[in-house]
Amino acid sequence: MKENIALCPGSFDPVTKGHLDIITRASKMFQKVIVVVASNSSKNCFFKPEERVELIKKCITNLSNVEVVHYDGLLADYAAEVGATAIIKGLRAMSDFEYEFQMALTNKKLNPNVETLFLTTAAENMYLSSSMVKQIASMGGDIESFVPQVIMQDIIERIKK
Ligand code: PNS
Repeated sequence: MKENIALCPGSFDPVTKGHLDIITRASKMFQKVIVVVASNSSKNCFFKPEERVELIKKCITNLSNVEVVHYDGLLADYAAEVGATAIIKGLRAMSDFEYEFQMALTNKKLNPNVETLFLTTAAENMYLSSSMVKQIASMGGDIESFVPQVIMQDIIERIKK
């Protein structure tokens, strides 16, 4: 039988507890989940793609059906390449909606075989973002509530450099 594959794409600069919650929930819904560290042309990322991949890998050792890749092309093309049928995105506030809706419709045009599914973020992650994490860490604040414990020190060290 064909494997049910979902993609969890994002910039993940760096991965947060909010992202991890979505990845974990997706891993329960699909046989295989591929976390795709992709380029967002409107963002200048702080962490290199390989660093972002490594940080995510450290957080998902308990999820046996999840893998992490870096892909530089169009997400719709990657979905076709691996035969993914779903793109999973987390939705926080309504402010995410317009942008996510635009991406979902564009991806559907580029690859009609892939559906975008939105998972509502957990209430405690509603206002959590990677940029907030970077800002707090760069000013010496405590990021424990926002990122998994296992990568907290890596982020702090890297931001101090
Ligand atoms: O975490 P982000 O920055 O909101 O994620 C956006 C991302 C990286 C998933 C999106 O920009 C993307 O899919 N980039 C890959 C290139 C692509 O397919 N662009 C067209 C998207 S409609």
